[in-house]
Order: sequence, then structure tokens, then C-alpha cells
Amino acid sequence: MNLDSGYDSYAFVADLYDHVGPYRSRPDVAFFLNEAVNAGSPVVELGCGTGRVLIPIARAGIEIVGVDASANMLSICRDRLAHEPEAVQSRVRLVQADMRSFDTGQRFALATIPFRPFQHLLTVEDQLACLATIRRQLVAGGRLILDLFNPSLDGLVNGPVGEEHGEEDEFTMPDGRRVVRRQKTVATNRFTQVNDYELIYYVTYPDGRDERLVHAFSLRYLFRYEAEHLLTRAGFDVEQVYADYSKNPYGSSYPGELIFIARARS
Ligand SMILES: C[S@@+](CC[C@H](N)C(=O)[O-])C[C@H]1O[C@@H](n2cnc3c(N)ncnc32)[C@H](O)[C@@H]1O
Repeated sequence: MNLDSGYDSYAFVADLYDHVGPYRSRPDVAFFLNEAVNAGSPVVELGCGTGRVLIPIARAGIEIVGVDASANMLSICRDRLAHEPEAVQSRVRLVQADMRSFDTGQRFALATIPFRPFQHLLTVEDQLACLATIRRQLVAGGRLILDLFNPSLDGLVNGPVGEEHGEEDEFTMPDGRRVVRRQKTVATNRFTQVNDYELIYYVTYPDGRDERLVHAFSLRYLFRYEAEHLLTRAGFDVEQVYADYSKNPYGSSYPGELIFIARARS
């Protein structure tokens, strides 16, 4: 597996990340913030990226350790933290590590994996290694929030393959570059459940020059009961399965999200 899923191979990904419309408007921050406040310090966030979720949690007074494999994403997170008050900065520790094998040296009441980094793990062995690593660093009865997308059967069968689609609203970078993002499913594999994707950024510079940048990566999709069995096998009891960040139950919308609250068995 490509360790960083393209987040380091392509430097532009971290540069653009915080400006992408669908990332800026993701409705998950209040949910993770609330869960972190309820669990209390310290919390660990895997695949924390640029701190989109981590920084609001630190602002709310919670100590948080952010783990990410990508030096570029963590570098943006550090830059953002540098603009925060000293008290917020002091609550954050960033660790560059693989979520399959990280060791923070701490124990947590809550581990979270917001916005699907777990789906960058492409084999069951990697998924189980990650869950075992998390479980070792939870206190007895500690909880994991596993955030996945719920695969749409219609999308899997009828979704376009090999063509660009999904033009989003243009966004503007602080240096004046204008960017439109599109996406492409490059290849699907119904046996491994690993699909190859591209996120394609069309960049126009203030001087009129154009650039086409491609972030290529793979994701593995998991179905509800598959993920539930995986969690059970890894020593977790599933307490809740939600369809969205308002805590509506799984099944209340389709395809919706696939969000597990799982407690580590002691
Ligand atoms: C879609 S971003 C999500 C970032 C952040 N959680 C958020 O909600 O904005 C996926 C993140 O997972 C990280 N990642 C991918 N594979 C990883 C691995 N094996 N170990 C640690 N981090 C990983 C990437 O570097 C990237 O920052």
C-alpha cells in the first residue's frame, strides 16, 4: 500500500485541502467535538490531516493527539496551530505515524477516525492491525468512532467509470489561483472492494496559466455487517450505528454514512 494514499506524493493535495468546498462544509465537526467533550481528555484522532476536526476540539479545551502518515498534511496542521492561542497549541500533540502501527505512549477514552482514513487500508490484515493498535491504546471500556461511507449499491453498479464527473463550485486560493475540482472512478474491483479514484484539480493562475493536477488513490469500501464483524473480531462491541452526524440511526437514509460507536471489550 502507498503509505500516505497520495497525500505526500502529491504536494498540492495538502496545499489545496482546506479550501475545497465539500471539505469546508462537511457537517461532522460538531459531532466529533461533542463526543470528545463527553469523553474528556485526552482524545486521539487518527488521520487528523490538516486539523479540520482536531483544532476545534483543542479550542474546546480538550487535549488531543493527532496521528497522520503525511508530513505535508501535518505541516499544514502545524501552520494552522501556530495561529491559535498558546493554550490551544499546548493541548495538541501531532505524531507522524501509520495508523496500523502508531504508538503514542498514552491511553485514551476515545479514538476517532473522521472522514474515512480507515478506507485507505486496503486489506483485512491492515484493517485488523489498525484496530488492534487502537485497542492497545484505549483505556478499559474506551470507545472508537469509525467513520466510513455507506457504499451505494446503485453507485457501485451504475456509477460512471473512466470518465470525469461531478464538477464542483470554483474556489479561490489566498494567492489568487482559481480551482475547480472534478473526480473520476478509474477502476473498480468487485472482489477486493478496492476502487481506484482520481481527484482532478483544474487550476487557473492569476496570470492566466492553466494547470491540471491529479490526486490518484485507492479506497476500500465496507458494508455494514462486514465492518461490524471486523470490529467484533478486533475486540470491540458495537454500541451504535449512525447514518449521519445528527445521530439518526443507520437505515434512516440511503446511502448515508456508516458511523460506528464501538467500545473496547476488556
Ligand atoms: C480524507 S483525509 C481526512 C483528514 C481529516 N481526518 C479530516 O477529516 O479532514 C485522510 C487522511 O488520512 C491520512 N492517512 C491515510 N492513510 C494513513 C495511514 N495509513 N496512517 C495514518 N494516516 C493516514 C492521510 O494522510 C490524510 O491526512
